Amino acid sequence: MSDQVRRPPVADWATDFDHYAGDYIDDPHVIHAEARAQCPVAHSDRYGGVVVPLTYEHNAAVAHDTETFTSRRIVISETPTDRRGIILPPINLDPPDHTEPRRAMLPFFNPTNVRYWEPTIREICKRHLDAFSGDRVDLARDYAKHVPGDLTARMFGVPPSEADQFRTWVHEILEVGPTDLEVERRATNEVVAYMQGLIDERRGTPGGDDFVSYLFDQDIDGEPIGDEAMAKMLLLLLVAGIDTTWSALGASFWHLANHEADRQRLVDDPSLIPVATEELLRAYGPVTVARIATKDTELGGCPVAAGEWVMLNLLAANRDPAVFDDPDEVIIDRKKNRHAAFGLGVHRCLGSNLARIEMHIAIEMLLERYPDFTAVPDADPAWSPGTVRGPRSVPVILS
Ligand code: HEM
Repeated sequence: MSDQVRRPPVADWATDFDHYAGDYIDDPHVIHAEARAQCPVAHSDRYGGVVVPLTYEHNAAVAHDTETFTSRRIVISETPTDRRGIILPPINLDPPDHTEPRRAMLPFFNPTNVRYWEPTIREICKRHLDAFSGDRVDLARDYAKHVPGDLTARMFGVPPSEADQFRTWVHEILEVGPTDLEVERRATNEVVAYMQGLIDERRGTPGGDDFVSYLFDQDIDGEPIGDEAMAKMLLLLLVAGIDTTWSALGASFWHLANHEADRQRLVDDPSLIPVATEELLRAYGPVTVARIATKDTELGGCPVAAGEWVMLNLLAANRDPAVFDDPDEVIIDRKKNRHAAFGLGVHRCLGSNLARIEMHIAIEMLLERYPDFTAVPDADPAWSPGTVRGPRSVPVILS
């Protein structure tokens, strides 16, 4: 079992769901399947009340009804839902307020603009592959972790050495913060101050290709973006892009290290890598977010009380047998695959084009250099808990 937060044991997954329980962190999929067989929507009194849809249909219903299910806070935590957390545009805004900040961010992540970053991603992957030594490496620690970390540093216009601090903040905000408010508050304040420092510095040197310089040229409702909103948008980009892609890459490597036939197919036919990436995102999609119910309602015949958390359980949606044939099988060239790993509805991931090319390049360059590797037997992947799930260790033997 993961050496994660120890909690009172779960009595029944349909009525006492706990996403921080050790069993769940180790394998949420088996728990979702068991609970789904009992009811389409699980519940828990923990965290002040959590409703957990287990089907694609009910997760989509939550994501699309932004009036009944607000994004005001999206990480389930011990802090009661009537307290206001920091509002990060656009992820914590509901329509219509959500529209403008999202519109302002979109062009940076459009398919043409993300191509600009391809040589940087290749250079980062090469640097870390060059640093492998001996016949044993950890593909999560020595490779997956660094690709989005170094790229994010570059996109903020700071040296890659800052990536360690970025990952520490993300860990404190997303993994520790939900059960330790003090840690979350301190880390959030530190990031906001750091971003304000970058804003002050870049104001004197316009014309860069980084996030900060980009936001100086954008507007919200026809007005330049103020410092406070900009610092919060930058905080979101920091939190949204690192752990997510690191986890998706780590899980992909974990799968390929444990499934020789799939790895060999991608080595023999690298043109399959984009299709395989979608399947790996479906099967191991790392992100679960949440909403808060704004009024008493029902979901799949289950009551939802105003103020309860509602988990947007994208992991369960992606393995719903009503939507995906053999959902627990990784079918590396799966044809019909409208997965929900990047979310559903108006908040669908802004960085998906970027995440995808990071994954394509990192997988392709690893397999090109090391076509043959196998998982170290019985190694603990140490899956990370909470809103972003990924293996923090994937030790392999290189042949
Ligand atoms: C494999 C990697 C990634 C996954 C699985 C992922 C997943 C998601 C999901 C599920 C959402 C929806 C959140 C919600 O409904 O509340 C989201 C939103 C978002 N993501 Fe990603 N993400 C990834 C990478 C990235 C990257 C690389 C960036 C940018 C650097 C990014 C930026 C964002 C932003 C800004 C939003 C908020 C969009 C909005 O509220 O309109 N993500 N992501």
